Amino acid sequence: MLTVAYSAGLFGIDGYLVTVECDTVCDMPDLEIVGLPDAAVREAKQRVKAAIVNSGLRLPEVKATVNLAPADIKKEGSAFDLAILVTLLRASGSLTPSAETEDCCFIGELSFSGAVRAARGVLSMVLAAKAAGKTRIFVPFANAGEASVVDGVAVYGVTDAAQLAAHLNGTTLINPTEECSIDLSCAPIPGLDFSDVKGQARAKRAMEIAAAGGHNILMIGPPGSGKSMLAKRLPTVLPPMTFGEALETTKIHSVSGILPDGQSLVCRRPFRSPHHTLSAPSMVGGGAIPKPGEISLAHNGVLFLDELPEFPKNVTESLRQPLEDGKVTVTRAAGRLTFPSSFMLVCAMNPCKCGYYGSAVRQCTCKKDDIKKYLSKISGPLLDRIDIQVELPALDFSELSSKETAETSETVRERVIKAREFARKRYESEAPELLCNARLTARQIRRFCQTDAAGEQILKTAFDAMGMSARGYDRILRVARTIADLDASDNISPRHIAEAVQLRSLDRKYW
Ligand SMILES: Nc1ncnc2c1ncn2[C@@H]1O[C@H](COP(=O)(O)OP(=O)(O)O)[C@@H](O)[C@H]1O
Ligand SMILES: [Mg+2]
Repeated sequence: MLTVAYSAGLFGIDGYLVTVECDTVCDMPDLEIVGLPDAAVREAKQRVKAAIVNSGLRLPEVKATVNLAPADIKKEGSAFDLAILVTLLRASGSLTPSAETEDCCFIGELSFSGAVRAARGVLSMVLAAKAAGKTRIFVPFANAGEASVVDGVAVYGVTDAAQLAAHLNGTTLINPTEECSIDLSCAPIPGLDFSDVKGQARAKRAMEIAAAGGHNILMIGPPGSGKSMLAKRLPTVLPPMTFGEALETTKIHSVSGILPDGQSLVCRRPFRSPHHTLSAPSMVGGGAIPKPGEISLAHNGVLFLDELPEFPKNVTESLRQPLEDGKVTVTRAAGRLTFPSSFMLVCAMNPCKCGYYGSAVRQCTCKKDDIKKYLSKISGPLLDRIDIQVELPALDFSELSSKETAETSETVRERVIKAREFARKRYESEAPELLCNARLTARQIRRFCQTDAAGEQILKTAFDAMGMSARGYDRILRVARTIADLDASDNISPRHIAEAVQLRSLDRKYW
């Protein structure tokens, strides 16, 4: 007797439909799983058998062979348990013959007791099931919120095997999960506001420009000047995510298993701040079963590298390609996987070991060679990919003790949103995929970032004086475009160019 149920698997961050076929023959009762299962899938045998027995359901009294198709993709994980369970229940006669499951997809891992455990990557799998025409999707109860983001399908959150059997038999029905209402507007982050940061007007302005254009930014200054403080507050001035961005980021977080139980979408741009002891694979992704790294977890959000020179060179250098492409390719035995990784890079560093090189208020105690060595940890090509550099001087007492209230994040964010909207309108017809100026290609720069003769002159002077690379030149134009957008100006004026040039001038002072 042949019974069939559908499940879904994961390849990278995308799901695919899996057909679970169960064939029974008259022989000693046994269960075998074929179809390129990994260890976790093979162990489904024990889990499903125990779950059936401990739920008071019946196992087939014959030999059952379960095949997971397509057979040429290596199946990973434990989310096929529920579908295997359904085929066995049907084979043993525990499901009424009229229980229809052709339009169903079953996703979830079973424990020995029969309880259904949360799974990774549910959102991607539900999307794949929907694309394959499945309309009723059974997922672990803990993942129902995440699955309910997908419209046009009925989602059922399952707590245990007996409940699922009762539902399919029509004795006790599970209520479908309500489609969640999604609010991407982002409430303020408690305890974090731009107004907490005193003084540092230039750095704040640079942050605002970075936020408006999605530009990478490097902050440099002595300890205690507020670099880390400012970076942590960047998410409070970033524009909300679009639904598409939120969906992509959620897929990545779900596949990585960091989506909190019950959460539907990641509604706020991620802010990842990995410690400098992390390895290159943890940064860019990889491992035996490749998982997204920090750069992908930061997709559509911020990757903050605090104390940049402390990061090993192989780790910072591994960022170069993803910074350029907005995605990263991880090679593995079974093929190549691509993870999205379009993020804003925010870096902070002291200018030298003691932290006071170039400071006006305190003497630097480092030797010249040591300063050079310290700064040389940041390679030219990486610096070249950072659009904005800004210096944070040590605060003086009057600034720190000032009672004046600075601008709130809400005010800054409003300007950022306006600037992005201004840019979006410009790209709407010709390049609708373009979400921020930082992603302008060289060709698009020629098209959208024109300036007049006076602006051209400033650029030429800067190019010659700073020994700038072609990449540096493009970066200035992108940033100038953003500054003009903050001004709601169609034209990039010499003033906009001059400010953009200034935001690139630390190369010369330090490197
Ligand atoms: N501009 C500032 N406004 C208010 N407090 C500040 C400022 N800069 C530093 N501080 C205080 O100093 C502490 C250390 O700042 P931090 O951002 O960690 O400095 P950095 O990262 O530049 O070494 C902060 O927690 C805050 O209390
Ligand atoms: Mg710091």
